[in-house]
Amino acid sequence: MFGIKLFGTSSYLGVDIGTTSIKIAEIGKGGHGPELQNYGILESYGHLERVNNAIQTSALKIMEADTIQLLKTLIKHSNFKSRDAIASLPSFAAFITLFEMPQMNDADIAKTMQFQIGQYIPLPLTEVSIDWLKVGERQDDQGFVKEQILLVSIPNETIEKYQRIFAAAGLRLRAIEIESLALLRSVSDANMPPTMVVDIGSRSTNIAVVDKGNLRYNFQTDMSGAGITQALAGGLGIKIRRAEKLKRERGILGGSESELSTLMMPFVDAILNEVKRVKTKYEQSFGTVVTQVILAGGGSKMPGLAPYAQEQLGLPIVIADPFQKIHYPAALEPIVRDLGPSFAISIGLGIKEFVEAHPAV
Ligand SMILES: Nc1ncnc2c1ncn2[C@@H]1O[C@H](COP(=O)(O)OP(=O)(O)OP(=O)(O)O)[C@@H](O)[C@H]1O
Ligand SMILES: [Mg+2]
Repeated sequence: MFGIKLFGTSSYLGVDIGTTSIKIAEIGKGGHGPELQNYGILESYGHLERVNNAIQTSALKIMEADTIQLLKTLIKHSNFKSRDAIASLPSFAAFITLFEMPQMNDADIAKTMQFQIGQYIPLPLTEVSIDWLKVGERQDDQGFVKEQILLVSIPNETIEKYQRIFAAAGLRLRAIEIESLALLRSVSDANMPPTMVVDIGSRSTNIAVVDKGNLRYNFQTDMSGAGITQALAGGLGIKIRRAEKLKRERGILGGSESELSTLMMPFVDAILNEVKRVKTKYEQSFGTVVTQVILAGGGSKMPGLAPYAQEQLGLPIVIADPFQKIHYPAALEPIVRDLGPSFAISIGLGIKEFVEAHPAV
């Protein structure tokens, strides 16, 4: 998506620029499918410490200069071989719309789209880059087959900003993709029944519904990891870093008996309520039932969260394991379960060129 196919590149860097961390997975072709060649993560609490309350959280933006510096540092220390990068954009930076068209071939869809697209995008067409994917089919009440199309548009200004950041960090930006699509590639497959993929990040939680490997619905909320840390810091009168450490070590394991859990629980419940809301909305609009939830993002590693979510949502919970999609050195085996939720997007980006047929752009 939003990129060019390049032959002869032996590995790609999948670069996930999050609010508080940058994660890179270097993926090569390998004899038996995509393989992990290197990876690196750089966490920065700068953004977090500048923010004291939830209202300011929604104004957080990645700072261009900071990001260049962090990327350079990470590249320098990780010894990546490739300079060819595929980057993700948070879903809130794009407009994502699902719409239906009568069944027709790709060339006709592209032509028809020219006339239709304006009504779905709130910016002049000259200011956005557009891509679309066929994500499914549906038979309407009269028996006609409708093609379901996912339209993704990204403001050119955002793409240009990413191009500047990557060029300044010494990387060639080969493609840009929205986070949800990269995530789905690394945690789902064509046989999977309707599944919710919940990425609990620092600044936002993204809730996607995937069916047979296709993105069907995408929703984003500000309820997320940083809010939980801030609630803890405020409630206990301690510094952000200390609150962060407590959150990671103890999580909500203490149940309603513990002061820590009591402070964090309303935020966890708010995230789970959003998940319930999306589930209901999806099931009503698409007439199919969600059968499981995959948790990803650093926030999904909170001790006690998975069993609590399972109880609250009444659905099986799976923790994202993107390493299933790649080969990796045996020495990593003891830590892949812990790395999985954090690297799910960067691995999804890194394997893109090795697992996908290229649809017309
Ligand atoms: N073990 C843990 N327990 C609880 N929370 C954790 C744990 N590890 C990381 N987190 C939280 O995960 C969040 C970071 O996750 P992630 O790296 O996915 O976010 P990000 O990609 O930087 O942010 P965003 O996607 O919102 O831009 C932070 O809020 C951090 O506190
Ligand atoms: Mg993220």
